[in-house]
Amino acid sequence: MPTKITVPELLKMKKEGRKISMLTAYDYTMARILDEAGAHVILVGDSLGMVVQGRKNTLGVSLDHMIYHSHCVSKGLTRAHLVCDMPFMSYQSSVDEAVKNCGKVLKQGHAEAVKLEGGEEIAATVKRLTDLGIPVMGHVGLKPMHVHLMGGYKVQGRDSKSEKRILNDARAIEKAGAYSIVLEGIPADLAQKISRSLKIPTIGIGSGSHCDGQVLVIYDLLGMYQEIQPKFVRRYANLFETITDSVKRYISDVESGNFPSDKESF
Ligand code: KIV
Repeated sequence: MPTKITVPELLKMKKEGRKISMLTAYDYTMARILDEAGAHVILVGDSLGMVVQGRKNTLGVSLDHMIYHSHCVSKGLTRAHLVCDMPFMSYQSSVDEAVKNCGKVLKQGHAEAVKLEGGEEIAATVKRLTDLGIPVMGHVGLKPMHVHLMGGYKVQGRDSKSEKRILNDARAIEKAGAYSIVLEGIPADLAQKISRSLKIPTIGIGSGSHCDGQVLVIYDLLGMYQEIQPKFVRRYANLFETITDSVKRYISDVESGNFPSDKESF
């Protein structure tokens, strides 16, 4: 039986220079496949707003949606560490609100940790949650919840002011007690600098190869989500085509009377 991936195990992986693989999942069947394949961390990302719910961004995702999907995913995991994203405005308005909502995600969604987008401005919240025993994964750099402020999903940290801010954010989140941090959409050099300066593991997405781990949205990796195809995604399959082809063959078999056969009947 392989070791259950826990917060201490992830910290140990960084210390020992072992890379962390993280992927998103939103349902039981996918979670089970990713767990059996050996992914270390499964993230119920608020990206579900786009890839599951068909929204243009993640802002409309509710706490109940996240809890529902986290609960479904938890049923499929035996080994991987389960992290659930806190959706827009579920933790920003006050520390008490954050404690209440993150607590729900652990109690009802069966997550083992929460992920919060933000830097210095949420450090007090991260500290309080950690003090209460709720493990927090940070998320700095390109923050999808800031899509309107950024004017789209744009690489951050390209100039020295923005670079300094992201480095300070990452340090503040670590100091507040986070056990790991996602670095999204920042130059590889900056991600390397942050990864070297923090004791907690950094998990990169669109941030180069020097992070302590990597994360991708599962539907991107499998080539299912067509709407946005960022440069940093490596597609390991083209399931959009595979599924389309399978469904077309099924339709044709139904129309021609070729399905079901005698063997597929009682
Ligand atoms: O919501 C999400 O899926 C994420 C990852 C891409 C990091 O935050």
